[in-house]
Amino acid sequence: MTYSGKSVLITGAASGIGYATAELFARNGADIVAADIDEDGLQAATRALAAEGPGEVFAVPCDTADPDSCTHLVERAVDQLGKLDIVCNIAGVLGNGPTEDLPDATWQKVLAVNLNGPFYISKRVIPHLLETGGSIVNVASTAGLIGVPYGAAYSASKAGVIGLTKALAAEYSRRGVRVNAVCPGHVLTPMTAGGGGFGPDVDADLLGRLAPLTGKGSRPGEIAAAIAFLTADTARNTTGAVLTIDGGQTVI
Ligand SMILES: NC(=O)c1ccc[n+]([C@@H]2O[C@H](COP(=O)([O-])OP(=O)(O)OC[C@H]3O[C@@H](n4cnc5c(N)ncnc54)[C@H](O)[C@@H]3O)[C@@H](O)[C@H]2O)c1
Repeated sequence: MTYSGKSVLITGAASGIGYATAELFARNGADIVAADIDEDGLQAATRALAAEGPGEVFAVPCDTADPDSCTHLVERAVDQLGKLDIVCNIAGVLGNGPTEDLPDATWQKVLAVNLNGPFYISKRVIPHLLETGGSIVNVASTAGLIGVPYGAAYSASKAGVIGLTKALAAEYSRRGVRVNAVCPGHVLTPMTAGGGGFGPDVDADLLGRLAPLTGKGSRPGEIAAAIAFLTADTARNTTGAVLTIDGGQTVI
C-alpha cells in the first residue's frame, strides 16, 4: 500500500483513531494536514507524525463544530498540500448518561461535533475531491446501527453520519467521488479509557450487552487499516459502504 503523492486531511488527528490513521498514511508516504481542537495535542502529534515518513505533515487547529473554522481548515489544507485526495472525518465526542437528565447543551454539542462537523467538512472538500477523484471516510460507530442505552445523543449523531455517508455516496456516485463509513464497536482509545462516561446511575447489566462477542476491543490501528482500505485504489468500486469493526457486537 503506498500513498506517496496523496494529499490527506484528517480531523481528530491528535489522539486515538485519528492519530493512528494519520500514522498509517504518514508511514505509507502521504502528505498530511492533521486537524484537531486540542492545539497542544496536535502539535505533539504532528511532530511525531513527521518522523514517521517522507511526506509533509502540517498542523491546522480546527473546531469542526464551527463552520468558519472548517472553511479555514479546508482553505489551509489546499494551500499547504495543493490538492486533496483523501479526507477522514474522525473528530468526535461522547455525551452519555440517562436521557431524562441529559443537558440540552450536551445533545447540541454531540450533534454539532459528530454530525455537523462531517457535513461542514464534506461540503467544503467535495469541490476539491471532484478534481482529483478522491474519497471521504467518515468514522461513525455501531452506536449508529444499534441502540446504545444512555447514548441518545451519541447514537443519533452516528446514525446521522451513516445517513450523510449514504446520501453523499449516492449523490456523487457518477462524478467519481466515493464516500464510505466505518463503524467501530469498542476501541481502546482515550475516549473509552474512562469507561464511556455513562455515570453511576445506569443499569450495568444492560450496558454489558454491548460487549463484543470476541471479548476484545479493537486497537486504533485496526480501525486505521479499515479506513485506509476504503480509500485505496483497490476500493475504487466501493462507495456508500458501512463497514463494522466491532468484534461481532452487532451480529446478534
Ligand atoms: N473509541 C471508541 O470505542 C469508538 C467507537 C466507535 C466510534 N468512535 C469514533 O471514533 C472517532 C475517534 O474517537 P477516538 O476513540 O479516537 O477518541 P479520542 O478522544 O482519542 O480522539 C478524538 C479526537 O477528536 C478531537 N476533537 C473533539 N472535538 C473536536 C472538535 N470540535 N473539533 C476538532 N477536533 C475535535 C479530540 O481533541 C481528540 O483528539 C470519534 O468520532 C468517535 O466517536 C470511537
